[in-house]
Amino acid sequence: MRIVILTGAGISAESGLGTFRDKDGLWTKYDLNEVATPEGFAKNPQLVTDFYNARRANCASAQPNAAHHALARLEAALPGQVTLITQNVDDLHQRAGSRNVIQMHGALMSALCAGCGHRWPAPPAMALTDRCPACGQARARPDVVWFGEIPYHMEAIAEAVETCTHFAAIGTSGQVYPAAGLAAEARRNGAQCTELNLEPSEISRVFQHRRYGPASEVVPAWVDSLLD
Ligand code: OAD
Repeated sequence: MRIVILTGAGISAESGLGTFRDKDGLWTKYDLNEVATPEGFAKNPQLVTDFYNARRANCASAQPNAAHHALARLEAALPGQVTLITQNVDDLHQRAGSRNVIQMHGALMSALCAGCGHRWPAPPAMALTDRCPACGQARARPDVVWFGEIPYHMEAIAEAVETCTHFAAIGTSGQVYPAAGLAAEARRNGAQCTELNLEPSEISRVFQHRRYGPASEVVPAWVDSLLD
């Protein structure tokens, strides 16, 4: 078995981190063009920095839930057979014990120099005056992928999706590409595809198997079924 799992904001919802598109989601409160695009950052870098500082603080006070723990258990039980691709910028998978994690939309806990590309651990509150430890320029930005930018690690992701026997999407609405296209790609390559979500997503038809309910319930049950 080679298992690829794609997670989205829904897996962290029960840890208290808001999703984007649900009722009360982040994109109902903020204009994504203002806080999640290179143009928004160029126009108002303080607003964008404050937005990610607040999300980083939320993340630091959140704890992994039963779904994150179940995926760490799966990886530990099947060493070398599980690749976890997450669209989430929180670090709850790693804190639950998952090791083979690809953060395709970047990481809140990382800072990136827009000048030289160096990365370093983000302080709890980033400031526009922060200097890059490598080149000394004050061009720090959150190390997250904004709309209009190319997600990270696309080659490794393509290879994992091409070679997997099982693909699961957990807590993602299937509205943001290229992540939303990975399930169809896995299916074309013959993988067994499972959707685990609170409700059917935009792309639920792509999956042969579907489990609906809160991630803290459906994910541990799915992991148990795989390990049976
Ligand atoms: P969305 O907010 O679009 O979707 C969250 C999904 O999780 C929805 O389908 C919900 O039904 C589901 N959900 C909510 N609570 C759940 C629970 N307790 N258990 C299981 N499922 C639950 O979030 P994403 O699909 O992750 O990108 O969004 C994708 C990308 O859009 C994000 O990475 C971010 C965002 O804009 C960037 O910022 C580049």
